[in-house]
Amino acid sequence: VVDDGRTTPATAGTTVVDHIGLLVTNDPARGAGPLGVLHDAHLVLDGDRVVAVGTGPAPAADRRIDAGGRCVLPGFVDSHTHLVFAGDRSAEFAARMAGRPYEAGGIRTTVDATRAADDGRLRRSAARRRAEGRAAGITTVEIKSGYGLTSEHEARTLRLGRELTPETTFLGAHVVPAEYDGRADDYVELVCGPMLTACAPHARWVDAFCERGAFDVDQCRAVLDAGRRAGLGGRLHANQLGPGPGVRLAVELGCASVDHCTHLDDGDVAALAGSATVATLLPASDFSTRQPYPDARRLVDAGVTVALATNANPGSSHTTSMAFCIALAVREMRLTPDEAVWAATAGGAAALRRDDLGRLAPGCRADLVVLDAPDHVHLAYRPGVPLVSVTIEAGRVRFPGADAPD
Ligand code: NIG
Repeated sequence: VVDDGRTTPATAGTTVVDHIGLLVTNDPARGAGPLGVLHDAHLVLDGDRVVAVGTGPAPAADRRIDAGGRCVLPGFVDSHTHLVFAGDRSAEFAARMAGRPYEAGGIRTTVDATRAADDGRLRRSAARRRAEGRAAGITTVEIKSGYGLTSEHEARTLRLGRELTPETTFLGAHVVPAEYDGRADDYVELVCGPMLTACAPHARWVDAFCERGAFDVDQCRAVLDAGRRAGLGGRLHANQLGPGPGVRLAVELGCASVDHCTHLDDGDVAALAGSATVATLLPASDFSTRQPYPDARRLVDAGVTVALATNANPGSSHTTSMAFCIALAVREMRLTPDEAVWAATAGGAAALRRDDLGRLAPGCRADLVVLDAPDHVHLAYRPGVPLVSVTIEAGRVRFPGADAPD
């Protein structure tokens, strides 16, 4: 890729990206198939927006990026992460690979480490993970709290998360902290009361973990209802470790997304299919916890909107690679490469209810990835290979490694 400079500090003026061999627009009105594919294409960006998409010779602009025949696609929209945390759980991972099951209780290890870390340490490690994901093509990230579990620590996590993204999620109902052992309902009262009051100003979303070992359906309903009254949109972790009522609760409450969906019955699939709730699948956590994979094929065939996300966190999914998730979704969850790429871009945007993301069309945010490959299928076809050569986020050109903090 030829560029006029290195990472661009400003977004002023127009930029043309030309000589795009294959452009995924995710705009079926503009190109072939559901991905809206164009060949020999160009994009025109003005500041942080896309202003034109076309084929053939590109118009003049203030700066030019020559894609050299490579594939360009919308930046990945990672709609489920827990990026703000301290500590390491590699020993827990190793024990799991030796046969120990994954349990929700491991979250408490990260809670202890996160509470003990100062703001500077949390800020630096979260920024490093964000830079890692950006270098691998993630242009939008959602960040959840859930490793603080006091009003002060949850609000702090969200404040730090807000430095990296407007898509922050209050997850005070992640697990019951040790100091509330045997008093889960008292903890839920705290989450729905003073903790929510402290956290709502720093959050767009509210979430809860509906699972054995975490919170039951009534407790999750109370948290999501309280969050909604405080002006937050709903999302839910559900059906990760076993079947349960979480998916149907998320649909009933009109959540934007229900995440994991590893164990689904016919009723869950039917409920999702008739709803506006996105099923966000997190294959890297099924990989790292040796769970079965969700049947994404069945969901897509039933008409469910599916998103893919990394679920970056220290316990169940310590990765920031959306390409890895795409490869797993294709190999293990029976999505086609086209469906997996759509789920990691437009699907993530739908899970965040953002129509300015996940597509490359005039008016959308100028978020795109130049792959060192002729087409998007290579994301699954060449697993483990870092194919992203340039990420452009809100019009800013970022070369891998150029913005990684030390
Ligand atoms: O989405 N499921 C709950 N929360 C995280 C796991 C976090 C952890 O194990 O630390 C998840 O997988």
